[in-house]
Amino acid sequence: MTVLIYGSYGFVGSLIAEEAIERGLDPILAGRDREKLREQVDDLEQPGRRFALEDPRIVAEALADVDCVLNCAGPFSNTADPLVQGCLESGADYVDITGEIPVIESIRGRDAEADDAGVTLLPSAALSTVPMDCLAAHLADRLPEATTLALGVDSFRVPSVGTVRTVIEGADDGGAIRRGGELEDVPTVWRTREIDFGRGARPAITMPMGDVSVAHYTTGIPNVEMYAVMPEPARTALKLHRVLAPILSASPVQLTLKLLAGIREGPSKRARERGSAYIWGEASTDGDETIVSRLRTPDPYVVTTDAAVTVTERVLAGDAADGFQTPAGAFGPEFVLDLEGVKGFFDESTPEASSPVNPLLR
Ligand SMILES: NC(=O)c1ccc[n+]([C@@H]2O[C@H](COP(=O)([O-])OP(=O)(O)OC[C@H]3O[C@@H](n4cnc5c(N)ncnc54)[C@H](OP(=O)(O)O)[C@@H]3O)[C@@H](O)[C@H]2O)c1
Repeated sequence: MTVLIYGSYGFVGSLIAEEAIERGLDPILAGRDREKLREQVDDLEQPGRRFALEDPRIVAEALADVDCVLNCAGPFSNTADPLVQGCLESGADYVDITGEIPVIESIRGRDAEADDAGVTLLPSAALSTVPMDCLAAHLADRLPEATTLALGVDSFRVPSVGTVRTVIEGADDGGAIRRGGELEDVPTVWRTREIDFGRGARPAITMPMGDVSVAHYTTGIPNVEMYAVMPEPARTALKLHRVLAPILSASPVQLTLKLLAGIREGPSKRARERGSAYIWGEASTDGDETIVSRLRTPDPYVVTTDAAVTVTERVLAGDAADGFQTPAGAFGPEFVLDLEGVKGFFDESTPEASSPVNPLLR
């Protein structure tokens, strides 16, 4: 079985490539930059394949002998479409680590084509969305009549350059929730809640993370909100973004922000070894029944690396059906517990009130 890791020399791509090699997947390393790829190929002593994504014929040719593509090249708004198209033409399965809602929605839109082609499309094999999706599926099993799902992550840490770039790229999109089964645009920092992630209540804000898409497709629950803990300066910056959005989305400013993002390093090995994430989920019915479950995981970049490689192994083994798949939809809620160091599920039937504290600035 042949795996090709696209964007293998990026920050997360490198972590994933090294993990894939360690697990014996013998991946082809790939990306568009000749020098960066050559350096990595020499360093890791793996085969490499250089190709850019502009020409669909070149992409399809590059994937002709590949069984599964693992796309680590973000922002995925620029890379997912051509690689998914290449996979549909060559018959390779597709896995990525996107957390971008429009990208997930676009991949889901190709479900029927993928089914016809005998191809699995499984985006978001990362911190967002594997733990939250599995937690959502677990909550739906516990409370099958649930109509509303709130999910949250407490893991704030210095992000990698690529994550900063991806957030900047999507900065003008505002927030998003799911209501009545449909995605709904809401302002940035639409709501704030005090949430007990398992270590006391902390203020969290609504975030337009991929979980808003994925958890709905896994569970069928029509109303989904996703929260993340943010320290106060970041919350204020995001609130200000509402006012500044038209300026932020202007391309010279985006360019400057991207250049600024370019001077930051990703989290160090030591920081990754010490990091952790607390995952919270709440399901409720129209009749006011509410349940809560939690998970604790290692550092977000450790979870992302483990999730991406484990999902790829399972897809290669033929464990996922053809068509668009979500992590918990493909492998069940317990899948997250297969990842190294994940603890849970911690269930509560009558949770302490964890209510909206600040119906912010509608
Ligand atoms: N869902 C989650 O929980 C989660 C977790 C972690 C990271 N991520 C996402 O993963 C992505 C990668 O993060 P990172 O820290 O590894 O970023 P990074 O270090 O900047 O690496 C990005 C990689 O993507 C490639 N790339 C970007 N645009 C491309 C394009 N148009 N065509 C071809 N290659 C392209 C880059 O290649 P060049 O150097 O040639 O440009 C590089 O190899 C980000 O979008 C981040 O948000 C998601």
